[in-house]
Amino acid sequence: MPGDSNDEIRTSLEQHLKAWGLRRFTSDRDYFAWQQRTFSRNDLDALHRAVETRRQGGSAADQAFYDLTAQPSLIPALYSQRYDYYLEVGSRISAVLDPDQPILDAGCGIGILTTFYAAQHPTCWVIGIDRSSASIDQARRRAKELGLDNVRFECYDLEKDALPERYPAVIATHVLFQSERDLGVPSRSWATFDRDSDPLTQEAFEARTGIGPRLDRLSVALAPGGRAILFEKARLLSRRIPFQRALAARGLFPLLRPEPIRYASVEEITEDGPLYILSRGPASFLWDEQPEPDEGAQLDLSAIMQARGTDEAPLYENHWPSAQVAWAQLPARQVVREVTRDEADGRQLHVEQGLSGDLMYLYVANTFDQRQLVVVEAARRGMLEQYYREIVGENS
Ligand SMILES: C[S@@+](CC[C@H](N)C(=O)[O-])C[C@H]1O[C@@H](n2cnc3c(N)ncnc32)[C@H](O)[C@@H]1O
Repeated sequence: MPGDSNDEIRTSLEQHLKAWGLRRFTSDRDYFAWQQRTFSRNDLDALHRAVETRRQGGSAADQAFYDLTAQPSLIPALYSQRYDYYLEVGSRISAVLDPDQPILDAGCGIGILTTFYAAQHPTCWVIGIDRSSASIDQARRRAKELGLDNVRFECYDLEKDALPERYPAVIATHVLFQSERDLGVPSRSWATFDRDSDPLTQEAFEARTGIGPRLDRLSVALAPGGRAILFEKARLLSRRIPFQRALAARGLFPLLRPEPIRYASVEEITEDGPLYILSRGPASFLWDEQPEPDEGAQLDLSAIMQARGTDEAPLYENHWPSAQVAWAQLPARQVVREVTRDEADGRQLHVEQGLSGDLMYLYVANTFDQRQLVVVEAARRGMLEQYYREIVGENS
């Protein structure tokens, strides 16, 4: 209900997920045991085939996958895997919805979150659209069972069909990126996180991930002064930057600070999002194209000196983007050997072994934002020389 605190929203959402037959699992063993009990051999075979075909790409395979997973007998055990996702994302979105405005949920799937928004905001009209007709049938059936009369579901393909109306709130969660595997756009070189503003690269990214045509439709469906609420797998900087540029090109800017979200998929922790709340301006926040603050330790030379000789561990280790700052701060850096080369997957890799006073370091950087700095005493250089050979493939 409007005005509910976050705890109240989460409690209502948990009840809602229960009504859909979903359960929360924290152990893979228990979760898969439930799947085994629930699914027949035929179900499992059909699911494996659909996952495999979908992995090869294409809209038809994606649609067939969602048509299959909309079968009522599969829903509880399949969608329970996303229990925490629904809880984290659904509660945050519900909290920012305006109680009196129509809402479009684009790519609503079987309507688990759409029906929650409708139940929480009974004075709103909620419209869910999806290109999977089986998902839409299922969503309609469930909305009826839940007694909701303020929600409607329609079969639309965001890439092909023009949406007939404009909405003050447009939601799309895990919908816009066709491909989960696309690494995105590499940085200009291994030495920077910056991306050139190259229209051809951007256009190619938007076309192959599908976000270009989908965002075009969504942005047309957004009423003047409306808000777009988007949550995609755009946590990698190489996906986040071109995604944000695609939003900016359509005049969309953050009203609230984009929020990265962490949730469990049973035992696996997923770093996802960020959650974007956007409008056509004026912008409250500028787009941020830098890596997120990370957990890498700052380079502290006095601590390094004190730690010398105390154990076998490196004196300093940083596997985060902040390793780039630490590497740049190494005093009297002197390169002993280095390699920079283009890898088969399109990334540029740089591997550098060098000296900083009487310390030895290994620095690895690539154009998909991975960084690694390891510092040891020069007397233990063998360890780094071995790493260097392994990374550049001299041992093979
Ligand atoms: C991962 S599910 C997400 C469902 C829901 N939004 C959620 O957050 O749980 C992706 C959904 O997007 C739908 N979808 C993908 N491409 C679409 C398109 N071009 N037009 C309409 N729906 C699409 C799929 O059919 C599927 O139901």
